[in-house]
Amino acid sequence: MTFRTRYTGLIEHYRDRLPVSDDTRLISLGEGNTPLIQLQNISDLLDKKVDIYVKYEGLNPTGSFKDRGMTMAVTKAVEDGAKAIICASTGNTSASAAAYAARAGITAFVLIPDGKIAQGKLAQAMMEGAVILQIKGNFDDGMRLVKEVADHAPVTIVNSINPYRLQGQKTAAFEIVEELGRAPDFHCLPVGNAGNISAHWIGYSEYANQETSICALHKCETGNKAIVDSRPKMVGYQADGSAPFMRGEMVDNPETVATAIRIGHPQSWDFALAVEKESGGWFDECSDEEILAAQKLLAEKEGIFCEPASATSLAGAMRDINSGKIPEGSVIVCTLTGHGLKDPDTAIKQSTAPVVKVDAQLEEVKTAILDNLPK
Ligand code: F0G
Repeated sequence: MTFRTRYTGLIEHYRDRLPVSDDTRLISLGEGNTPLIQLQNISDLLDKKVDIYVKYEGLNPTGSFKDRGMTMAVTKAVEDGAKAIICASTGNTSASAAAYAARAGITAFVLIPDGKIAQGKLAQAMMEGAVILQIKGNFDDGMRLVKEVADHAPVTIVNSINPYRLQGQKTAAFEIVEELGRAPDFHCLPVGNAGNISAHWIGYSEYANQETSICALHKCETGNKAIVDSRPKMVGYQADGSAPFMRGEMVDNPETVATAIRIGHPQSWDFALAVEKESGGWFDECSDEEILAAQKLLAEKEGIFCEPASATSLAGAMRDINSGKIPEGSVIVCTLTGHGLKDPDTAIKQSTAPVVKVDAQLEEVKTAILDNLPK
């Protein structure tokens, strides 16, 4: 019997590719190392044969990919002596910031849009002791305020404009390459601020030891030996009511059921356009109906429960596979950014699962079973 080595988080694991020193106190909750699950039943429903995987980032400690970036951002904030961090958030960043601040013993201030944040995320930030500022405005208003207030108060911004966030998040690409033994042909992600798609591009570029203009601004690790010889085409999908990359300009009143990506003024606009150009990928949009249908399909056919925003990657990918834009035989990874339990209200509202009310008696339970067995 050989025992597994204890996994202690992505900074420790990828230490040589991240900006930490031997003396850095790591603020970690064991994030990263999430499963890459090959789709089986959904593949059979597609018009073309492809090899499609989902990277289930909802299995990070606070239930979203934000933890990859937050472990780095909070580790560096603490190293620099910060006593408080701040972020604007559609929910997941606030949950993650609150958790890592609690772990570090510092204060998290989170600005969230009034009434437009999923219950699970709010519950997390509240339990983890963040100071919650519920603003009468949307994410974009919150982001503007965070940038302004950081000039006037001793707080470190931990939104993805903090460069350490993308450094942590690039490790998802490392894990995918290591597990597939190659880079995928296409990597599909939901896009809000476009931080995550940019971070993945940094990661893939590092492993292929290829240049990206993002690195010029981001001090990436280059000059290492290439681990693979290619990078994927990066494909970003937005909700059609919040799709500034499709409109070609900022959107002032974004709307979508996928509240996590209800963002009209993406913070990583230039990076995202660089990723599209350098990778040969594209942006597209999905309707709320397509997003919810993909969320339900994943749960019903594969047993994988993600939040609505996450399903945007699969909704878009399925359309592009069926149309042939993503060619037959491709290896595709879709990132599922957050866990389904984050937003139970939206899930219950769209569920059509039969809830059969019965008396607590054997006969009634037996009848209910026989009535509902597959015919
Ligand atoms: N998916 C989920 C579940 C998210 O929470 C977010 C962003 C995204 C996708 C988009 O990622 O912004 O890097 O393009 N959520 C942020 C938040 C805005 O505050 O939690 P992006």
